[in-house]
Amino acid sequence: MTDTDNRPLDPEAKPDDRVDHALRPQMLTDLIGQHQVKENLSILIEAARQREEALDHALFYGPPGLGKTTLSHILANEMGVNIKVTSGPAIERAGDLAAILTNLRAGDILFIDEIHRLGRAVEEVLYPAMEDFSLDIVIGKGPSARSIRLKLPHFTVVGATTRLALVTAPLRARFGAVYRLEYYDLEAMQAIVTRAAGLLEVPADEEGIKEIGRRARGTPRVALRLLRRVRDYAQVRADGEITRAVADEALNLLSIDPLGLDDMDRRVLKAIIEKYRGGPVGLNTIGASISEEPDTIMDVVEPYLLQLGFLDRTPQGRVATRLAYEHLGFEYREEEQQGRLL
Ligand SMILES: Nc1ncnc2c1ncn2[C@@H]1O[C@H](COP(=O)(O)OP(=O)(O)OP(=O)(O)O)[C@@H](O)[C@H]1O
Ligand SMILES: [Mg+2]
Repeated sequence: MTDTDNRPLDPEAKPDDRVDHALRPQMLTDLIGQHQVKENLSILIEAARQREEALDHALFYGPPGLGKTTLSHILANEMGVNIKVTSGPAIERAGDLAAILTNLRAGDILFIDEIHRLGRAVEEVLYPAMEDFSLDIVIGKGPSARSIRLKLPHFTVVGATTRLALVTAPLRARFGAVYRLEYYDLEAMQAIVTRAAGLLEVPADEEGIKEIGRRARGTPRVALRLLRRVRDYAQVRADGEITRAVADEALNLLSIDPLGLDDMDRRVLKAIIEKYRGGPVGLNTIGASISEEPDTIMDVVEPYLLQLGFLDRTPQGRVATRLAYEHLGFEYREEEQQGRLL
């Protein structure tokens, strides 16, 4: 399974995942894990409620599939306001944004996914809108053109991005609250799988759930997808119940190893180890050697490998760590590796 589109572990959303919307936690209390973000959000919400104001602008960042979209809907539910959903690439011209802004009501949330992909001209319109709730529009053309300033209702921008570094400094500065989403720990992953199995009415025992949670790379979207695949397997090849053995067989068949690595992860690590003696090697070189987009590797493969401590990012490039060598069964020669890094 080398085709990126077929990776069951791909944390990016796929058409199949649409059914997950029904599983989305609706309120902050339903949300599993992310304790710190949760606590901070409850304060943000409570304070805005007490002052009867719109929420502060908030920005969520972190790897795909951890709940940024879910959280923005929760904010709207908690505040009892409307949410208008759009994304950086969808707002092509400044006029598109102006049209969206003039349709918002006081307190409404404007959710901008992939906010790092907003165009320059669009951003320029967003700055005064976020800061002073005003919109400058130019009427007419040529010498008779003049600019008028419209007042906007107090609304809230909730931004989401997988690439905080690509959000321009002036845009970032306009967010009162910035939250980083972390990969979920094992306990939270199990709770998420348990909850989803319950809602989907899939019979599963504790060990079966643990096995899915363990291999879902700390990502709820992946966990839900693996649950669906294991459910299929249980139905077709077993008696319908997800047990440890059933989960194990189903996931092995999908080439997902006990730590949640799949073919693509292994190919990246193997390329670094076998072709570049463990690195350092640049991302573009790795991409070229395994015919994958460097961007895909950076967004989808790398964050989890970094999290596991299998990969280091150095100024000279990516380096495979001892843990990666051991996991893949390669011999790690300390002196050789240290020598290369000096
Ligand atoms: N804390 C959670 N508890 C239970 N389910 C969750 C949680 N977070 C996310 N999910 C589930 O995981 C799925 C993916 O979450 P979501 O769409 O919010 O991710 P995202 O961070 O917006 O990803 P992307 O960056 O790809 O847009 C959702 O459909 C939701 O059902
Ligand atoms: Mg999303």
